[in-house]
Amino acid sequence: MSLLEAAKAVRENAHAPYSNFKVGAALRTSAGVVHVGCNVENIAYPEGTCAEAGAIAAMCASGEREIAEALVIADAPLPVTPCGGCRQKLAEFSGPDVKITMMTMGGESLTMTMAELLPGAFGAAHMENT
Ligand code: THU
Repeated sequence: MSLLEAAKAVRENAHAPYSNFKVGAALRTSAGVVHVGCNVENIAYPEGTCAEAGAIAAMCASGEREIAEALVIADAPLPVTPCGGCRQKLAEFSGPDVKITMMTMGGESLTMTMAELLPGAFGAAHMENT
């Protein structure tokens, strides 16, 4: 299944009664496996989770740790870029050249690398004195 098909399909399962903004995310691992996630909101608003976080959790639960590419889709006027927190979560498992594609349901598409999405990311190199 393509990342686009997978992200579109899982977006239907989003639990977004507060924002009414359904998001689907799909990622392919270096082993070629696709994992998906959708946003899951909560009446205690800060407890909601993003689609990207769901896909990353599914990947980790399956025992994988390496993202090869990812795609996020929402019904938006312009491609939805991952929030700051999700950029950091994606960077944990994506090298700087990994491509993240952002799409609208209307077919507009924007692809950026991990390094472009999170320049100057905090990473393992910062902790080398510990
Ligand atoms: N959201 C995501 O799931 N991923 C993004 O990249 C942007 C925002 C969700 C969080 C919340 O449930 C809703 O979209 C509105 O912010």
